Formats: sequence, C-alpha cells, structure tokens
Amino acid sequence: MSADLSESVVPPSTESGGPSSGPSRRTVIATGVVVGGAVVAGGTFLAGSEEAAAAGASPSSRVSLTVNGTRRTVTVDNRTSLLDLLREHLDLTGSKKGCNAGACGACTVLVDGQRVNSCLTLAVRLEGAEVVTIEGLAEGDRLHPLQQAFIDEDAFQCGYCTPGQIMSGVGCIQEGHTDSPEEIREYMSGNVCRCGCYVKIVRAVEQTAARK
Ligand code: FES
Ligand code: FES
Repeated sequence: MSADLSESVVPPSTESGGPSSGPSRRTVIATGVVVGGAVVAGGTFLAGSEEAAAAGASPSSRVSLTVNGTRRTVTVDNRTSLLDLLREHLDLTGSKKGCNAGACGACTVLVDGQRVNSCLTLAVRLEGAEVVTIEGLAEGDRLHPLQQAFIDEDAFQCGYCTPGQIMSGVGCIQEGHTDSPEEIREYMSGNVCRCGCYVKIVRAVEQTAARK
C-alpha cells in the first residue's frame, strides 16, 4: 500500500498509555470507516475526500505514536495498517505478515499493553498510543525472558510465526492466563504455527510465567 509519508523522530514521551485504553486482541479495531475517501480516525485529518478526489490523491493523516519507546510522527494514507506502518515506513520488519486478515497472529504487537493483530489495526487510529514490537522486547544484549525461553525450549522451526508467538505470549503472561497448559493454549489460540511447535511454545510460556 502506498503512502505519502513524512516522518520525524522526537524525544520519547514521558506519558505512558494505560492498558485499559487499548483494544482487545480479538476485537477488530479497524473501524475507521473509509467512505468516499473520508476516514473517521484518531489522527489529524489532512486531506478531505473532495479535495483528495479532486487532486487524485488518497486521503492522508498525521499520527503521533510511541514505538518501542521512541515517539514517531508520520503522515500516512488513511488506509495504512499498523503492520504496514511498522514494516514499510519504520523499517521494523520483525512483525510478520502472514494472512493479513486477522487469522494467523504473525503480526501480533502490544498496543497500550494489549495484544492486537496489527494487520487489522488502522495506524491513524493510534494517536498517542504506545506500541511495543518484537524489536522492543530485549534490553540491549539481554533478551526478554520469553525470547530466551523460546531458544531454550527450541520452540520454533522456520521462525516465521515466532515474533507473533512471543508478543502474544508476553501479553498472555501479563494477563495472567497461564494457570495451566490448557489455559495457555486457549489464550494463545489466535497464533498459528504451521510447523506445529505448539507443545514447546506452550512450555516456553509456562516456564516464563512461573519465573515471574
Ligand atoms: S498477518 Fe495479521 S493475523 Fe495474520
Ligand atoms: S515455527 Fe514455522 S510457522 Fe511456527
């Protein structure tokens, strides 16, 4: 998806977003409805439908959000998903595009502490949001405990689903849905692994939760 983008990096926000404001992982929040080129969104509306149509351009909006601790301000086509914003405009390619339709979980990131499918999340709705991707989990050379557990448990083969699995696992642990392997399976059920590494993935989440 093409986008007219101007990007600036400003110092990290001192404000932290509240988890309660974030969308549910299983809730499609891409409800900014594009109607005749106009979009209802949280970002700053830059181009009206009539003006954009007259100019032959897609409507765009400016949005400021914090990604892995760094405030980013971008201007994007209103139809841009968070996943495309991350991968194509911010060069954060750890989040994977599997189905691009909310069915595989490969694109899972945290928005205001909540798990979301970034392929279903409109970027322009994220004004002021705090986004954490797989690139933001480690502290320097020190991996997040769940990243280390995936290595220790050999919880991947091709690795394509792994960033989404880990981000979903972090969310699952934060939510406290780790009382049993069955509960972990239930709350990780939106993350598909074509290599069938589920037993080891669940074990990695379970062990990391137990160490908290
Ligand atoms: S790429 Fe987003 S759920 Fe599959
Ligand atoms: S490790 Fe290959 S899809 Fe999960």
